[in-house]
Amino acid sequence: MSSKKLRASITGVHGYVPDYILSNSELETLVDTTDEWIMTRTGIKERRILKGDLQGTSVLGIKCVKGLLEKTNTDPKDIDLIICATVTPDMFFPSTSNLIADKVGASNSYGFDISAACSGFIYALSTGSQFIEAGTHKKVIVVGADKMSSIIDYEDRKNCVLFGDGGGAVLLEPSSDDTGIQDYLLKSDGSGSDMLCLKAGGSLRPASKDTIKNKEHYIYQEGSSVFKFAVTNMADISEEIMKKNNLKADDIAYLVPHQANKRIIDATANRMGVGPDKVLLNIERYGNTTAGTIPLCLWDFEKKFKKGDNLILAAFGGGFTWGSLYLKWSYNN
Ligand code: UT7
Repeated sequence: MSSKKLRASITGVHGYVPDYILSNSELETLVDTTDEWIMTRTGIKERRILKGDLQGTSVLGIKCVKGLLEKTNTDPKDIDLIICATVTPDMFFPSTSNLIADKVGASNSYGFDISAACSGFIYALSTGSQFIEAGTHKKVIVVGADKMSSIIDYEDRKNCVLFGDGGGAVLLEPSSDDTGIQDYLLKSDGSGSDMLCLKAGGSLRPASKDTIKNKEHYIYQEGSSVFKFAVTNMADISEEIMKKNNLKADDIAYLVPHQANKRIIDATANRMGVGPDKVLLNIERYGNTTAGTIPLCLWDFEKKFKKGDNLILAAFGGGFTWGSLYLKWSYNN
């Protein structure tokens, strides 16, 4: 028997964004803003919105997972576990992962959701990898998806320009070589919870006439304070994972950053010493889809990756939560 450590490899990725495009010019008709302000401050040109009645985050997740199963030629009954990272679950319970499993025919799978806001996908990916490394699970799907439009006030210019709907999913399987997830660092600091949160609707402040009147079911963010924490922490943790794994800038093929603000991404890339050609960006087209940004980015740029490429994933978000994950890409396209 080999004593080699089992690693979890990403063996497929699929993403989904809804068809409806909410452009900066449409936002100019809703709130007092300009395309110029949004582009210079954030780098966002447009975002996707899931329209229609009774369309929750599971709709995004189901599209991602169905596409993933088809693409990887996987029988849904072979899936052991589905983990869904989201802060916009269809309902508090049951979990969105259960709804996804049911609709994709993953009848032998169990599942649970992970709530870590914009760091949700990295938290969920590192969690999923543990089940593979333990040798107890052979096929794990990790979904990151959010219907941010369900918690956005389209009269609030500070937030409505930032967010969009979308998601992505990856299949994790035991690696047959030394590629796959190598290392990760995860952090949280609950003292930042007041700066970025959904104030009402939970057990602390259940829904009431007042919470509705005060618009407390919409995202609340102190943008410039969060910005400062995000710049420092996302850059720090990306540098830390490089040092821990003896990686120099030249060793990195791509940085896959959470897409909240192009200026935060630039600061992270600068600290890592990687040039713009190595930084994956799709914020211009999708805005901030919270747990969806990183898997959407992997999906968008999958064709670029070669087996053995070193990728650094990095995120910062509400909680506060932040993290970085180092993986070696496992397949050629
Ligand atoms: O992904 C989860 C973590 N979240 C983040 O990483 C977001 C971090 N924060 C940010 O990315 C930035 O802080 C924002 C993009 C949210 C805002 O950019 P900023 O450069 O920090 O602007 P600000 O909030 O300091 O606002 C500057 C001005 C204000 O006007 P006054 O007070 O200077 O007169 C705002 O009222 O810009 C105004 N403003 C707008 N103007 C036009 C705010 N939103 C808008 C808008 N259009 N949409």
